[in-house]
Amino acid sequence: MEHLEQNKELTSKKIDFWKEKGANQPGPGVKKRHDLIASLVKKHHPDSSAAVMDIGGREGFLCDALKQQGFKSFYIVDISPEAIEYAKQRGYNGEVKNVENIGSLNRTFDIIIASHVIEHCKEPKKIIDGVHGLLNPGGTFFIEVPRQPKEPVPTKFGHWYLFSDLSELTELFDEKWELVFTHPAPIRAIYKKR
Ligand SMILES: C[S@@+](CC[C@H](N)C(=O)[O-])C[C@H]1O[C@@H](n2cnc3c(N)ncnc32)[C@H](O)[C@@H]1O
Repeated sequence: MEHLEQNKELTSKKIDFWKEKGANQPGPGVKKRHDLIASLVKKHHPDSSAAVMDIGGREGFLCDALKQQGFKSFYIVDISPEAIEYAKQRGYNGEVKNVENIGSLNRTFDIIIASHVIEHCKEPKKIIDGVHGLLNPGGTFFIEVPRQPKEPVPTKFGHWYLFSDLSELTELFDEKWELVFTHPAPIRAIYKKR
């Protein structure tokens, strides 16, 4: 299993944590966070005909919140087959894929969302570069990571990469991106593809 390869301290019990969270509804805290993300995305990309991809999108609960904002076209990518299966049962298109290879996807999007996923990966810069290649010109990238202390490394739940402040995220973006929004904790940013 990918997570175990990435993080030797991660046990199958911790992996099952994600499966156990495959509930019918998001918990109230998660729903509130998804609603906030959806309103921020809408504010910075109001065109509701946009093609949206949510990477690490699990069952599609964040897409549900985006639907409430008027968006209609969604694609979900996740490393968890269980999550993608459930997303499909819930009416979403998507595929099982490691986000570290996101650049190889043969599709383009107007909005890409990576909420609490790149910290699970070894090469977040590679993901950001891959996302750039999949965005249409003027497209929007919403990214969010937890703010975490630097130790112990690696940490629970498969977190490889620990972001202790916003600058550690923004330094991964180069001049191909325009920064349009930031928030310090959780660390959130919205970029436009130049
Ligand atoms: C903390 S959950 C975040 C779920 C949702 N995006 C949110 O913000 O509520 C992390 C998700 O990322 C997925 N994930 C972890 N590593 C991944 C990888 N390398 N490629 C794709 N998905 C991954 C997990 O399966 C899980 O669904």
